[in-house]
Amino acid sequence: MLRFLTAGESHGKGLTVIVEGVPAGLPLDEAYIRAQLARRQRGYGRGGRMQIEQDYAEILSGVRQGLTLGTPIAMLVRNKDWENWQEVMSITPTEEPPKAVTRLRPGHADLAGAMKYGQSDVRNILERASARETAARVAAGAVARRFLGEFGMAFHSHVTCIGGVWARPQGAIDWARVEESPVHCADPEAERQMMEAIDAAKEAGDTVGGVVQVMVENVPIGLGSHVQWDRRLDGLIAQALMSINAVKAVSIGDGWESANWRGSQTHDVIEPVTDPSRPWQRKTNRAGGTEGGMSDGMSLVVSFAVKPISTLSKPLPSVDLATGETVQAHYERSDVCQVPAAGVIGEAMAALVLARCFLEKFGGDHLEETRRNFTAYMKTVGPRGRGQHV
Ligand SMILES: Cc1cc2nc3c(=O)[nH]c(=O)nc-3n(C[C@H](O)[C@H](O)[C@H](O)COP(=O)(O)O)c2cc1C
Repeated sequence: MLRFLTAGESHGKGLTVIVEGVPAGLPLDEAYIRAQLARRQRGYGRGGRMQIEQDYAEILSGVRQGLTLGTPIAMLVRNKDWENWQEVMSITPTEEPPKAVTRLRPGHADLAGAMKYGQSDVRNILERASARETAARVAAGAVARRFLGEFGMAFHSHVTCIGGVWARPQGAIDWARVEESPVHCADPEAERQMMEAIDAAKEAGDTVGGVVQVMVENVPIGLGSHVQWDRRLDGLIAQALMSINAVKAVSIGDGWESANWRGSQTHDVIEPVTDPSRPWQRKTNRAGGTEGGMSDGMSLVVSFAVKPISTLSKPLPSVDLATGETVQAHYERSDVCQVPAAGVIGEAMAALVLARCFLEKFGGDHLEETRRNFTAYMKTVGPRGRGQHV
């Protein structure tokens, strides 16, 4: 079973992540992981922090001579900004205690975290609640993505809305264009308006959110299961995406929209295969690649809504944790829009869930063992009468 755990504070020495359960024999290098981390740092509307950090995941264990060993893969992403925070974030007590953050920020973990963990300094909460942690998730996700790439799976994301401006991409999405787009958008006209919306929010001391769509191609049929609630692929994907900071809604396939439609407009007709390279064929993919809690052989298509950044340069009214008096919320260098970056994190989380379900189905302690199991299964997938099953 594939699992991972992250540690680290936003302005601490760095983030660490351990990924366990990756079969031996997978080619893996730091350059591949670095490319994913760089994608997370891009995007119009990011703040000064992203100019300081140039994320790099150092592999500490689990890889030898360019191949995974089947042992836990530990990685370290150092925080460059740590140099400026050594006193404040010192592990040993400093002579002069750092000034406590007490001006609570609405929309953050500040208030609930301070109550739950009995803290008088909100920094003890915000350092870990920060989305800086998602750099470690992207490093872990890169390993999962590299693994699933061996089986033809490909991960993408594109932004469909920022600040109320909706993209209307025409035809198949040009992923190379999306990568070049400052807002990861497939629609050039919407891209321009989205950037204007970000500029206007920044000018007003405000922030904007939006919607991202993650797409995964070549997902084999039958990952996840209908037999138990916690094995359903749709449930696992929703939980993983919802766990990303600021994500407030997840929709698989046509999701919310399908509530307006009749059944005949909603479900994907199964039709006789005309493309011999495919075991099954559908007229549409409104379900977004899952049926009955399992992958149905179509691309996985999941959208999620990201709320606007909570830290505003024109802060919201709030209350001081120490005195209970009215204050303006604490402001710390912050993004204006993080939606494109959230898409990259969404891809990573989808890869981690799919890799876990893939290994549950196909197992294997070595990549070739997994491949054998996968290939044997894929031979069984298709209309029974066609003699494809064994
Ligand atoms: C990639 C990314 C970057 C973010 N950057 C910031 C930021 O610079 N400032 C901020 O206040 N919130 C930022 N956030 C959002 C906060 O982490 C989020 O609003 C906070 O965790 C509370 O959201 P929650 O209620 O969903 O946990 C970012 C989120 C993501 C996904």
